[in-house]
Amino acid sequence: MTVQKIALTGIKSSGSPHIGNYLGAIKPALELTKDHEARYFIADYHAITTVKDKKLLEEQIYDMAATWLAAGLNPDEVIFYRQSDIPEVFELSWILACMTPKGLLNRAHSYKDSIEKNKEKGKDLDDGVHCGLYYYPVLMAADILAFNTNVVPVGQDQKQHLEITRDIAHAFNQVYGEILTVPEALIDDSVKTVPGIDGRKMSKSYNNVIPLYGPQKDLQKSISRIVTDSKGVNEPKDPDSCNLFALYTYFAAPEAVSAKREQYKSGGMGYGDMKNELFELIDAFVAEGRDKYASLMANREQIDWILEEGAEKARQIAGPLLQKVRHAIGIQ
Ligand code: ADP
Ligand code: TRP
Repeated sequence: MTVQKIALTGIKSSGSPHIGNYLGAIKPALELTKDHEARYFIADYHAITTVKDKKLLEEQIYDMAATWLAAGLNPDEVIFYRQSDIPEVFELSWILACMTPKGLLNRAHSYKDSIEKNKEKGKDLDDGVHCGLYYYPVLMAADILAFNTNVVPVGQDQKQHLEITRDIAHAFNQVYGEILTVPEALIDDSVKTVPGIDGRKMSKSYNNVIPLYGPQKDLQKSISRIVTDSKGVNEPKDPDSCNLFALYTYFAAPEAVSAKREQYKSGGMGYGDMKNELFELIDAFVAEGRDKYASLMANREQIDWILEEGAEKARQIAGPLLQKVRHAIGIQ
């Protein structure tokens, strides 16, 4: 029997999951479970870098858990847990912080962006920047390194975090010996950035998302708001600059995509009809997951129970690793 590689990833519970999260992160991660040992978690302590509302955070943790499960995560095959249930991760994060050059964190994108924005506005450089944002990449390194991870499926935007994780692991191993597994990012270039309803990257922070398992009427509403040019029904249209077409390609069969491309070029199809067609397509695609999601959200003890079981299994891996790390650094 060949030994399977270990895949691990996390998604912050900082907003309701959307079509971009599904296509860019959840779906590829679930595909990996076929030939990897998978460990997937809800990064709830990363979420508090932005979410400061107790009720909202509680809701979003359930929302994220129900979404993964409704999308097809099988907790018998994947170790599925909440980051906050694994104390070893936080212990490791401190140890790693003591191996992390400060300059490495100074260069991390989200911290640097906050500083740059303050500079542009003529504010004090650290205005509104808390240490959690600065420390974010170290906690992420601990998430990954506590589980002997080989590959981390993530979107392009997480590439730098993985490079930082690798640097930290090397720094630790150089001092204490080859204890930590150095992971690799697994970035699927074929899943480009999914556009939002305004054509920019679909993102909670741009308020341009198409919800994944939200109510059907919200799906319809967001699709009806997708921005297009103002070409009339009979005019030929450019599929490659159309958000509707871009979204269509993720859900329609390849033959349907080719046919639609021709229809765009020849004219005779209006954007209103295209929106209806896209709605039908996405609605059919999410229908089963939406039902599962609703039933899980109405039965939260089931989610609690799944996550508790997952945390137990996860701690059986992180515990021994931490023992090894403590021993290596001289703390018994
Ligand atoms: P958001 O930008 O909405 O806050 P997150 O930063 O929480 O999303 O992203 C969670 C995961 O989903 C990441 O792995 C990210 O790469 C992926 N992702 C988010 N938005 C998109 C998108 N528009 N297209 C492809 N992948 C995305
Ligand atoms: N930073 C990731 C994001 O914003 C979430 C995350 C936290 C993560 N810890 C992780 C992803 C460990 C992969 C591995 O999407």
